[in-house]
Amino acid sequence: MIFIRVNVCGVFRDYRTLWMKGSSVFMIDQPKIPHRFKVVEFKCYQDTACAISDMVVRGAGAIGAAGGYALAQAALEAPDDGFLEFVRGAEQVINGTRPTAQDLFYATRRVMGAVSGVEDTGGARKAAVFEAQRIADENAHAGEMIGKYGEKLIKDKMRVLTHCNAGWLAFVDWGSALAPVYASKRCGRNVFVYVDETRPRCQGARLTAWELCQEGVKHAVIADNASGYYMRRGDVDIVIVGADRVACNGDVANKVGTYEKAVLAHENGIPFYVAAPRSTVDLSCKCGDDIPIEERSEDEVLSMFGWSDEFSRMMTVRVAPQDSHALNPAFDVTPAKYITGIITDAGIVKASEKSLRKLF
Ligand code: MRU
Repeated sequence: MIFIRVNVCGVFRDYRTLWMKGSSVFMIDQPKIPHRFKVVEFKCYQDTACAISDMVVRGAGAIGAAGGYALAQAALEAPDDGFLEFVRGAEQVINGTRPTAQDLFYATRRVMGAVSGVEDTGGARKAAVFEAQRIADENAHAGEMIGKYGEKLIKDKMRVLTHCNAGWLAFVDWGSALAPVYASKRCGRNVFVYVDETRPRCQGARLTAWELCQEGVKHAVIADNASGYYMRRGDVDIVIVGADRVACNGDVANKVGTYEKAVLAHENGIPFYVAAPRSTVDLSCKCGDDIPIEERSEDEVLSMFGWSDEFSRMMTVRVAPQDSHALNPAFDVTPAKYITGIITDAGIVKASEKSLRKLF
């Protein structure tokens, strides 16, 4: 397994995005990246759940792993008397943190299933931790497999456009949309990545760009509204994005702005791929309109958050007038008709119900 290689003060260390040790969950503190590299510890399930809603950890796969770990922590914290009620209550809290990423519900359902199958509370606690760890390991492996399948789409000197962050930091390791880029780079190919900045939280400019720096992949951060310009000029060879949830008919929910990229890619004859593990596919969601779309605080749109050289610290600055309000949907839905293919951990498939069902 290849872990995240991070250059911390000139020293390379291997990290996963998050992990569990004893009864604590550790995470790379994502809001601080790229300006600081810090690992934070969460000692109880409520704190881990808050880390998900506050986006200390984000990205579908990483949210899923965090949710699994949080439920395992709850099983460790639960009293012998009323064990199952406590864990079920925790499951509600964890599932309530973020509504769109399917991996969260996939993970908590699996840990809950492991707990429910065991009679004694000691055994149930062990089963919860074991299952949460298994989910995290599978998540890292799925990213590696997506890299293996997707790498074949990226020839030497190709220019890839991506939106948001669907790299290591959005998973336990490897990532989804960026895994083919990393695999291709490791095969010795020259790859260039256009990185959409991805307002309002700028996951592209902050996280994807930082990951690409760590991997030595050539890239340029572009304003979200510049992608059409480059596509029309013929400067983009392929678009690869991640997914927060894939509906049964192949519609995909991903970071807001993805839909526009798909329509632009279609208009300009550019292949548009979605990369996602099978854990992101929700066969119970008939189509994209059934996927719950998270609305986040208007402050994310009205302000910008970043590093101030002047004050040597992270700061939030207001951009819009004090009297203005904002709307902030965190995701949008790309209809299956715009998707050339879905790169999964079990191969590249069509964005259609028939192909998706065959994966299971
Ligand atoms: O709101 P976030 O940062 O959790 O958004 C999720 C994402 O990172 C993206 O939508 C991504 O492209 C898919 S998640 C692997």
